Amino acid sequence: MKKKVLEKKNAMWGGRFSSQTTDIMEQINSSIDFDYRLANQDIQCSVAHVQMLCKQKIISNEVSDKIINGLKTIKKEIENGDFKYNVKLEDIHMNIESQLHELIGPDAGFIHTARSRNDQVATDFRIWVRDSIDILVSLISRNMREFLTIAENNYDTIMPGFTHLQTAQPITFGHHMLAYVEMLSRDKERFLDSRRRLNECPLGSAALAGTSFPIDRFMTSEELGFDKPMANSIDAVSDRDFAVDFVSSAAICSIHLSRFAEELVLWSSEQFQFVQISDSFSTGSSIMPQKRNPDAAELIRAKAGSISGALVSLLTMLKGLPLAYSKDLQEDKEAVFRVYDNLFLVLSVMAEMLKEITVNKKVLRESASSRFITATDLADYLVKDYNYSFRQAHKVVGNLVREAENLGCDLKDLDLEVFKQIEPEIHNQILEILTIDNSVKSKKSYGGTSPTQVKERIIEWQKRMMGE
Ligand code: ARG
Repeated sequence: MKKKVLEKKNAMWGGRFSSQTTDIMEQINSSIDFDYRLANQDIQCSVAHVQMLCKQKIISNEVSDKIINGLKTIKKEIENGDFKYNVKLEDIHMNIESQLHELIGPDAGFIHTARSRNDQVATDFRIWVRDSIDILVSLISRNMREFLTIAENNYDTIMPGFTHLQTAQPITFGHHMLAYVEMLSRDKERFLDSRRRLNECPLGSAALAGTSFPIDRFMTSEELGFDKPMANSIDAVSDRDFAVDFVSSAAICSIHLSRFAEELVLWSSEQFQFVQISDSFSTGSSIMPQKRNPDAAELIRAKAGSISGALVSLLTMLKGLPLAYSKDLQEDKEAVFRVYDNLFLVLSVMAEMLKEITVNKKVLRESASSRFITATDLADYLVKDYNYSFRQAHKVVGNLVREAENLGCDLKDLDLEVFKQIEPEIHNQILEILTIDNSVKSKKSYGGTSPTQVKERIIEWQKRMMGE
């Protein structure tokens, strides 16, 4: 009976324990259900560690070769789906190490010389986040290119610009699209910036204090593609800033996508009809045959909530943690994996959806022709040509708007005499000033909405993105 109990104890750390863990304890303690995703990084990290131990003569060539071959076999087993994950072995690190024991026998035990799972998981996880950033950054670039293509096709398409979702001034659709290019480029920078910061290697910090073995941390750091080893072993095993950086960059990016998704929901509605989302990204209603629901856009909007939620989980998890490692840190991966999966999905869907969007140029133009949309242009004109102060001009135009409203017409429909009562010198040119084409053309200030400005910005972006 005693023997049976002992066998059930954890083979990796069971030495000082006299009884096994309960099933319920196993359930809360185990992370293999999600950290199996670190398998490749864990093997990569172990190979580098063992090569270093061998070079430093901490383990023999023979043991090193055996371990590395064993790890290669495990990698294949995982790739082929032959690897059996075991909840009782807690996490990916112990699952792999235990399988190594199965494959090569007791020499497997040398793998854990001069390291702990604390520096091991911190290193694996950094590599995983780094790889994920590279994938997300290229997906962001893909989205930027799609926005850029729409911008190019619509650099002079006129639409109403909104503030408070009230018609404000005419703008160009290309200009609106370029706003998202700017946002996404900041997202990209944010990810790349966190990548630069995370690229220091925790391996060799062991549990928290470093190690008495003559290891070469610079060697493992270089081998694993890091810029340098982390300079403080306590920080190295307890720091999860890189995870927070990653998730917060993702949260901001998802919010940008969500804002556009919201615009798509509005714009594709019967009331707006600014754009049409392709059939492949819309769904029908089971009761209302006429419906075309923008489900993909709505779900992109919703996923931003889940991603932001993960940021809060992660920050809250960290806020009370004393240095160095605490098991709470095991839960960081769930948040990060969920964020990655969601952001990967929404970026992929958005890029595809953008490719198939139809822009209803005619509707956009008609909608931009709504009453009083060029009222500011009239005020600006009075300032430029008739020496009004802007405040004065604003008041005068306000009165004209009221007058037109009373008559149930637009500013351009007012009799010239009405304008002349306000400014006797005013002449026909006023009608030209009030057109939406003139309005957008006149917004030539740097970064403004005029087609010439938009074209210039598009060309700049195309150059910047060449070769990406
Ligand atoms: N699965 C653990 C994690 O993800 C590995 C580190 C465990 N370290 C320890 N001292 N129990 O955090």
